[in-house]
Amino acid sequence: MTLHRRTLLVGASCALPLGTMPLSAAHAATEVNLYTTREAGLIQPLLERFSATTGIKVNTVFMSAGLAERVAAEGARSPADVLMTVDAGSLVDLDRKGLTQPLNSKIVDAAVPSALRAPASNWVPLSLRARVILVSNERVPDTAMTYEQLADVRWKGRVCLRSGNHPYNTALFGAMLVKHGPVVTEAYLADLKRNLARKPAGGDREVARDIMAGICDVGLSNSYYVGLMLSGAGGSEQKRWGQAVRVIMPTFDDGAGTHVNVSGAAVARHAPHAANAIRLIEFLLSPEAQKVYAEANFEFPLLPDVPLHPAIAHLGKLRVDTVGMADMAAHRAAASMMVDRVGFDQ
Ligand SMILES: [Fe+2]
Repeated sequence: MTLHRRTLLVGASCALPLGTMPLSAAHAATEVNLYTTREAGLIQPLLERFSATTGIKVNTVFMSAGLAERVAAEGARSPADVLMTVDAGSLVDLDRKGLTQPLNSKIVDAAVPSALRAPASNWVPLSLRARVILVSNERVPDTAMTYEQLADVRWKGRVCLRSGNHPYNTALFGAMLVKHGPVVTEAYLADLKRNLARKPAGGDREVARDIMAGICDVGLSNSYYVGLMLSGAGGSEQKRWGQAVRVIMPTFDDGAGTHVNVSGAAVARHAPHAANAIRLIEFLLSPEAQKVYAEANFEFPLLPDVPLHPAIAHLGKLRVDTVGMADMAAHRAAASMMVDRVGFDQ
């Protein structure tokens, strides 16, 4: 690795200050450069275990957004080896912009269910999150519901959601487009807007907060927020929000399964340490690392034998819907235009 590259890196798992790292080729052969939008608190323990197991040092660049733009701007001189982010759409985007390379690994092939790996895609999923329905513990007796039923007139003025254009929602609406086509989906969005108790705003946890406050009775959330709230990881106030709701693991009307999104990773197109990049991704799919995804971040692991966090296990078994990640991502832009056309966030 050359000096100008090193200056780009934040040595998150490196004890040495920038610019003082040894330059030997042997050192370069035992490192890997990770660009990620994931939170340091989740990723750091995983990387430390990887380094302890393999002797490969991980230099991490944490960024909140702009991963694809940065790697594209760096071009062939990018030091990035592994690109890691959340959301199938963002991962599909990395492939589409030519920022990834094929990942050939029997370990990865064995770990990832074919339904979750888009054909001919370079990226691989690392963990799952379900889009679940939250209902008031006090005012809603229902224990089963479909995504389509959120638009029933029964819920008029009783639904809280974050922005209809947030990727978590456009992913769900994209999947709905795949299943129902544009006419039914746009009518669904118009009905869902009519059901809103307030303007779409905030995050998924604010849905639980507002259900507790009596502003609404039902809403949508990613599953890990349920764990974050109930575990008390976000403080005692959020714990009360979590306790005010009951979680329903919905399906679409066809009963195929629950809508999920993924976190995932890919080997960067110009990775200087491609072999180490594959080893890191293989490690992230090992039972040891998958356990951290489940325990520390309340995600659903990809490996079926890895136990769920108790705060998630009680939601019941996750049956993943059949709309493929690439198909869902491809319908997202159209879903987003429909969100705007019905004035969802207005
Ligand atoms: Fe989130």
